[in-house]
Amino acid sequence: METILPVNEVKVDRWQRSRQKAFKEVPDEGRTITYLGKKFHVYPDTFWPFLDSQPLVRNFRIQPGESVLDVGTGSGVIAIFSCYAQAGRVLALDINPAAIRSATHNAHEHGFDGIMEVRRSDLFEQVGDEQFDVITANLPFRNKAAHDVVARSQWDTAFQTNTRFFKEAGKHLKPGGRIYFAHANFGAVDEVKRLAVDAGYDIRLLASSVPGEAEERQFYAYLIERAKPR
Ligand SMILES: C[S@@+](CC[C@H](N)C(=O)[O-])C[C@H]1O[C@@H](n2cnc3c(N)ncnc32)[C@H](O)[C@@H]1O
Repeated sequence: METILPVNEVKVDRWQRSRQKAFKEVPDEGRTITYLGKKFHVYPDTFWPFLDSQPLVRNFRIQPGESVLDVGTGSGVIAIFSCYAQAGRVLALDINPAAIRSATHNAHEHGFDGIMEVRRSDLFEQVGDEQFDVITANLPFRNKAAHDVVARSQWDTAFQTNTRFFKEAGKHLKPGGRIYFAHANFGAVDEVKRLAVDAGYDIRLLASSVPGEAEERQFYAYLIERAKPR
């Protein structure tokens, strides 16, 4: 069970706005961020790899040769760690053109051009009928109006993207496939669980960023699988 602590919305707002400003102020040539011991480049307007995806990346399991669809790839970190885990094919999607530029650059720099494809897509719109063994997603956590594409990395207007994700993911998941989903205590935890269950999945907590500790901000990784008939 997650430790759900009271969240100070004003502090979270201030912190997220300062991060959005920082994403926008990156120089044209980009900047390099170290994440889990590896270097990733981000061009302006791209979400920086951060603690939020680490419970997922540290705990997901990819079998050699499996196919992975990474939704909301940002700089491509989850997709690239899937490649390091020996995925056979990785398709990385994002709605933000800046993220496409950053993820394409990082796939090349890490030597995964032949395995990882980066595609601009609003959720699954450009995926066609392809199905995957694994879907990974670190979508915006908060149900809050997003005024631009950078804000869309953290805020989801009327929770539309998260709602559509759970309605549409099944079409792209092979029978027996699994979803690894990142979220946070300052997001819409109950809403995510309800969306998953309503779409016919079991959802369970796989890992959290500071298990058992009273940290103000906690990040979670969920394992989501089709519910077995009872
Ligand atoms: C929290 S960031 C995560 C980025 C990266 N996966 C990571 O873990 O660092 C969320 C990402 O989802 C993307 N996103 C938001 N709405 C989307 C949508 N409807 N379709 C595709 N990508 C979306 C944002 O542009 C952003 O890059």
